[in-house]
Amino acid sequence: MSECPAPTLLPAQQAYRLWAPEYDTSPNPLLSLEERLLAPLLPLAGGCDVVDLGCGTGRSIVELARIGARSIVGVDFSREMLEYAAKKVPAGVRLVEADCRDTRLQPQCCDWIVASFLLSYLDGLTAFAEEAARICRQSAFVLITDVHPAARSYGWKRTFRSSRSVVEIQTHPYGISGLHGAMQQAGFELVYLKEAGFGPEELTIFSRAGRPDLYGAVENLPVLLIAGYQRDCA
Ligand SMILES: C[S@@+](CC[C@H](N)C(=O)[O-])C[C@H]1O[C@@H](n2cnc3c(N)ncnc32)[C@H](O)[C@@H]1O
Repeated sequence: MSECPAPTLLPAQQAYRLWAPEYDTSPNPLLSLEERLLAPLLPLAGGCDVVDLGCGTGRSIVELARIGARSIVGVDFSREMLEYAAKKVPAGVRLVEADCRDTRLQPQCCDWIVASFLLSYLDGLTAFAEEAARICRQSAFVLITDVHPAARSYGWKRTFRSSRSVVEIQTHPYGISGLHGAMQQAGFELVYLKEAGFGPEELTIFSRAGRPDLYGAVENLPVLLIAGYQRDCA
């Protein structure tokens, strides 16, 4: 009987260098759930200057362009993820290789920020919140999605297969109140919060990934966090 190898733990930048070629083709029910729930929200970015922090291979950028964002900048510290993004985002989108906590973008350059499945990889949220506050304009909206912080208690790890090994991506736990605190400290007010679980819509993706049992294990538990913050909206 062959044994399952222990995962190799890697920091995010190294891990995404390896995951980049497969990221868009790996069946991922969390991404599908997020896309389903953001469908009514993302159109609010129409006509806005948007920065996508931790844009990866450009999943959100493609949608933001489709709904008519005025300008889009994608920021990611993984050159490999950006190389895949460059192949699919429309002309005019600017891709910047930088840490999301030090983007070197102009101050007050955007009125929407998207940060999808990024925060778990950050060691502390203060620098992220401060950089978001620096680059966004008055009344700007920040849309954050992530694996729900409670998923840690279900034993979830961020893993993927690379060649013949399994890689676990290093994450840093945070709580929802810690996120609110960091964002409030930087001048943002919470205006939207959703803690969502999978629905039958995602069952087929678990099946495609060969793990329909996992769906049953987390059905009705919160797996996705969506939080929206607005800057100085009083
Ligand atoms: C799970 S992927 C999400 C990609 C994309 N937002 C999406 O939802 O498909 C996380 C991305 O965050 C990037 N990332 C992690 N830490 C980062 C940091 N400190 N600065 C910039 N990018 C970072 C990784 O390189 C990776 O592309």
